[in-house]
Amino acid sequence: MERELSLEFVRVTEAAALASGRLMGRGDKEAADQAAVDAMRSVFDTVHINGTVVIGEGEKDEAPMLYIGEELGISDEPLVDVAVDPLEGTNLVAKGLPNALSVVAIAPKGCLLKAPDVFYMDKIAVGPKAKGCIDLDASVEDNLKAVAAAMDRDVRDLTAIILERPRHKELIAEIREAGARVKLITDGDVSAAIATCIDTSGVDILFGIGGAPEGVIAAAALKILGGDMQCRLIPKKGDARNKAGRMGEKDPYRLLHLEDLARGEDLFFAATGITDGDMLNGVRYSGQTAETHSLVMRGVTRTIRNIYATHKLERKPHFVSRESVCRQ
Ligand code: FBP
Repeated sequence: MERELSLEFVRVTEAAALASGRLMGRGDKEAADQAAVDAMRSVFDTVHINGTVVIGEGEKDEAPMLYIGEELGISDEPLVDVAVDPLEGTNLVAKGLPNALSVVAIAPKGCLLKAPDVFYMDKIAVGPKAKGCIDLDASVEDNLKAVAAAMDRDVRDLTAIILERPRHKELIAEIREAGARVKLITDGDVSAAIATCIDTSGVDILFGIGGAPEGVIAAAALKILGGDMQCRLIPKKGDARNKAGRMGEKDPYRLLHLEDLARGEDLFFAATGITDGDMLNGVRYSGQTAETHSLVMRGVTRTIRNIYATHKLERKPHFVSRESVCRQ
C-alpha cells in the first residue's frame, strides 16, 4: 500500500468524528453511531483502494452500511481488508466521557482476522518494553511479574487497565492481590490497549474480555507500535460455533498471537478523537470551524503521525454540517 493512503484514511476517521462529536452527551448512542457510520461511508467512496469490510457494523441484513463484505473505495488496487469502528465507545459519546474514537485499520487482503461480533475476545496486551513476556494462559501474577521484570520495575509500580464488568470480578481481584495498580474503564478497550504502548499514558498492561472486532483493530495498532497482544475468541451466545466454522478457522478457540490477528507489516491504522482522551483530543467546534486530532500509523516504516486539522464546516456540508447531523 502506498504511503499516500495515510492521509486518505485520516480523512475517513476525521469525517466520522466530526459527525458524531456533535451528538456528545445527548444520551443517544445509536444516533451518534449512525452519524459516524454515514460520514465514514461517504468518505470511503473517495479513497483509492479496492477494499472489503472484514470487520464492520455487522452482517449485511442487519447493517445498511459498512457491513461485513461491503466493498469500499474507487480503485482496482490495492486489494485490501478494511476494519472499521466508526464510533468506538458509543456510550462514551452518549455520556460525554473520555476516550471515544473513530478508528480504521487496513491491511492487504487476507491479513486481518475475521472476527464476527458474536464473539468476545479474552485479551492481554503490553507495550514494546514487555514484548514477548505475556502469556494469556499463565496466571495474572506470573504475567505481572514477567512484565515488571521486563520493565525493570516492581509489580506494585505497574498499572493494569481493564473494563469494569461483572465478568471481571475475579480477574480484578487477582490483579489487586498481585499488588499492581488498577485502572477501571467503562468502555473503550481499543484505546486502552494502545495506551500500553504510550509512555505518557501511565498504563502498562491490559487484561480482560472485550469485543472481538475491537481486538483485531487494537492488534493492528499494537503491531505498528511494537507492542504485544494475545487473544482467544469466546462466543457471546447463539450460533457462535457455526460462525466460527464460517471464519475458516480449524480451531477458532486457539490462542491468537499478534501475527494471527494482523498479519505482516503492510498495515495502516488511523484514529480520530471524538471525546478528549489519554491519546487524542476530542473534536472542538467553533462556529463554522472544527478542530480534530488524529493519529495515523504505517506498519512498513512504523511512522506515527499526529495530525491536528482545522475544518471549514461550510465546505463539508454533506457529512459534518450542524443541520445535517441534527436532522438525523
Ligand atoms: P461500542 O462502541 O460498540 O459501544 O463498544 C464499546 C466497548 O467498550 C468496546 O471497547 C469493548 O471491546 C466492548 O464494548 C466490550 O463489550 P461489552 O460492553 O459487551 O462488555
